[in-house]
Amino acid sequence: MYKLLFKPLLFLLEPEAAHQLTIKIFNLILSIPGCATLFKKFYFIDDPKLKVHLWGLEFPNPVGLAAGFDKDGKYFGTMSHLGFGFIEIGTVTPLPQPGNDKPRLFRLPQDLGLINRMGFNNDGVGAMVSRLRNRKNNTILIGGNIGKNKITPNENATDDYVICFEALFDLVDYFVVNVSSPNTPGFKGIAGKSTIDTTPFCTDSSK
Ligand SMILES: Cc1cc2nc3c(=O)[nH]c(=O)nc-3n(C[C@H](O)[C@H](O)[C@H](O)COP(=O)(O)O)c2cc1C
Repeated sequence: MYKLLFKPLLFLLEPEAAHQLTIKIFNLILSIPGCATLFKKFYFIDDPKLKVHLWGLEFPNPVGLAAGFDKDGKYFGTMSHLGFGFIEIGTVTPLPQPGNDKPRLFRLPQDLGLINRMGFNNDGVGAMVSRLRNRKNNTILIGGNIGKNKITPNENATDDYVICFEALFDLVDYFVVNVSSPNTPGFKGIAGKSTIDTTPFCTDSSK
């Protein structure tokens, strides 16, 4: 059904538009009474063999949704119906930023892949905090993937990470510090071990 019907239709749209549309349709489906429970029942496998214990957390299974799908913390509730063991939101930066000019996402149909040159487009950590505070579903584990704004010089990158880290500390279950985006000019340079001072993050071993 996907290959015959949905895929050809979705491929008529730009990849980013297809991404937004599919989430909206999925949200709509979930709003039909009983559908959310049905999806959870179908996709969520509760098997002790799949559980992973890491960083003081229990992940129900090792398959998570990667960062970039839900850059702003808008869809983790929706996506939690598909059986993921965790959902990583972000990459989020202290200030909102538009990311690179479009088009910035390209399909590689023969390789079954994508080229992503998004450039950390996001609504900023403040907007993400508000959404997480209103979170209804507290059962899914959420990772906060944090980055630096394009306008922040590399030597001040730690300040940006600390802002996001502190803002999200009580709202997410673990952090990912994103130190390497080829889509932010000059940013690959800070991925070296010595460049980033990690002491501000060492406050609680469980996060
Ligand atoms: C459109 C798109 C946006 C992404 N945005 C981010 C991001 O903001 N932060 C991040 O750490 N990774 C981002 N990624 C990378 C994914 O999280 C993931 O690492 C990558 O797609 C490889 O996944 P795979 O190993 O399952 O193929 C993005 C990927 C895509 C395709």
